[in-house]
Amino acid sequence: MLIIGATQGIGRALAELAAAQGAELIVASRNAGRVTQVAQDLGAMPLVIDLTDSASIAAGLKAAGKLDYLAIPGSDVVFGSFRDLSLADAQASMASKFWGPYQAVRAAEMAPRGAVALFSGNASRKPIGAAALTAINSAVEGLGRALAHELAPVRVNTICPGLVDTEMWERLPTAQRTEMMDQAKRRLPARHVATSKDIAELTLAVLTNRYVTGTTVDIDGGALLG
Ligand SMILES: NC(=O)c1ccc[n+]([C@@H]2O[C@H](COP(=O)([O-])OP(=O)(O)OC[C@H]3O[C@@H](n4cnc5c(N)ncnc54)[C@H](OP(=O)(O)O)[C@@H]3O)[C@@H](O)[C@H]2O)c1
Repeated sequence: MLIIGATQGIGRALAELAAAQGAELIVASRNAGRVTQVAQDLGAMPLVIDLTDSASIAAGLKAAGKLDYLAIPGSDVVFGSFRDLSLADAQASMASKFWGPYQAVRAAEMAPRGAVALFSGNASRKPIGAAALTAINSAVEGLGRALAHELAPVRVNTICPGLVDTEMWERLPTAQRTEMMDQAKRRLPARHVATSKDIAELTLAVLTNRYVTGTTVDIDGGALLG
């Protein structure tokens, strides 16, 4: 299994779960030092792959060789409203979260019964004041459906999380992050905000279940219910 974006958050949790189940694991991100550390921790093979760099994607996927499973939780998205976010930041976000995975799947040598997990986010269907993010997540979900059709029998699914308490939110001041998580816990029908492990467990189930393909799998505590 190759996980691109395995140094923190959902990708790291998926790597820990896969390693615990004895998977032959390759961990990747754009940061050599962090990838080496995770690989050492989990007994995995390290690879540097920068999803915003076509040459890096091509070289990394070639080095990875034939894959049963490919998961791509890696992305670096800049949040901002339609009016406030610069075009450069919107395009860079699309490059890392859509065009990076697009090129990675294209470069991957998948085993015929292999499976791919892409990652979107429920801003695709529940706008949160970040138009570029809604567009990117929608594009990823469309890509997942199309690839399930075009790459069959390789299975392709998109994991669509709602709010997940990962290191991604460390960009917010601590008090604001805590308040956001507490509010979500009170508001969500599940009365729970997902951990990375919650998402990793579902991802592993989707990757390994032979009857799941072409789906967008919601895991959001019921957020889409309004
Ligand atoms: N957390 C949430 O609330 C939430 C909600 C909805 C959807 N999602 C989506 O779920 C996915 C995982 O989220 P997360 O919260 O686990 O993210 P995260 O904590 O920000 O982790 C992102 C991972 O991607 C890697 N990465 C970033 N840019 C990269 C690049 N250009 N090339 C290769 N790797 C790159 C990072 O590693 P390095 O820095 O070491 O490169 C890191 O391992 C993302 O697509 C995110 O948009 C998350």
